[in-house]
Amino acid sequence: MASPDLLSLAGQRALVTGAATGIGKGIVEALAKAGADVALNYRSHGEEAEKLARTVEAMGGKAVALQADVSKEAEVISLFDAAERDLGPIDIVVSNAGLQRDAKIADMTLEDWNTVIEVNLTGSFLIGREAIRRFRGKGMGQSRSLGKLVFNSSVHQRIPWAFHANYAASKGGLKLLMESLAQEVAPERIRVNAIGPGAIATAINAAEREGDGEKEMLKLIPYGRIGEPEDIGRCVAWLVSDAADYVVGQTIFIDGAMTLYPEFRGNG
Ligand code: BGC
Repeated sequence: MASPDLLSLAGQRALVTGAATGIGKGIVEALAKAGADVALNYRSHGEEAEKLARTVEAMGGKAVALQADVSKEAEVISLFDAAERDLGPIDIVVSNAGLQRDAKIADMTLEDWNTVIEVNLTGSFLIGREAIRRFRGKGMGQSRSLGKLVFNSSVHQRIPWAFHANYAASKGGLKLLMESLAQEVAPERIRVNAIGPGAIATAINAAEREGDGEKEMLKLIPYGRIGEPEDIGRCVAWLVSDAADYVVGQTIFIDGAMTLYPEFRGNG
């Protein structure tokens, strides 16, 4: 008898937030490639989300693009209702939506602070809570676990980030939100994990990469290249698959070794 393909996501349904562009898009493509049907959440990039949904369909999967603001409780609940109505019970949730509002601390407005905390941290709470509620109401499906929840965190859940205090605080909070949820629901065979991307080439850091920016960034990346959304997508597809069935409550840094204090390496 052929051994089961532990990396396959065939017969499973995923919901990805912030799915239309950047890292979210890379995650959607990787999940679809592994065989999952995908509900793509977006807030403002409707056209891109629809286009990506058609790409997933062309790959042979089902897909639906759904608008919702992850920081709004009622919208998150409606999002899950719509995803389940269109695809069926959701086995995989990737809480990916996030943003930056950078400012020096003395110039940071309360709105800069609140916007980042509301989307990155409260949004993760709302998506995570709803994911767990829905996992509890479904059967085991095709997987060894009842449900898989992945938060998109950052290297900045570990590395302090001057001039980005709101963002770093949101990701530091997300780390312990993830670990606490993982501990709470592991006995129900729900796997909660996070990824911690480093510098990935997307719109969020386009300004940072301009001019000499990219050269400066590379000094912080021992592996010597900026990451691509596909680097993240491949790792998430593995993390939610049965190949990673014993990985629970971990943050997988996907960062070309940015978290290894590269400035201490010197030149040997
Ligand atoms: C941020 C990017 C930044 C990277 C490395 C990410 O979490 O969103 O803007 O380039 O961390 O510092």
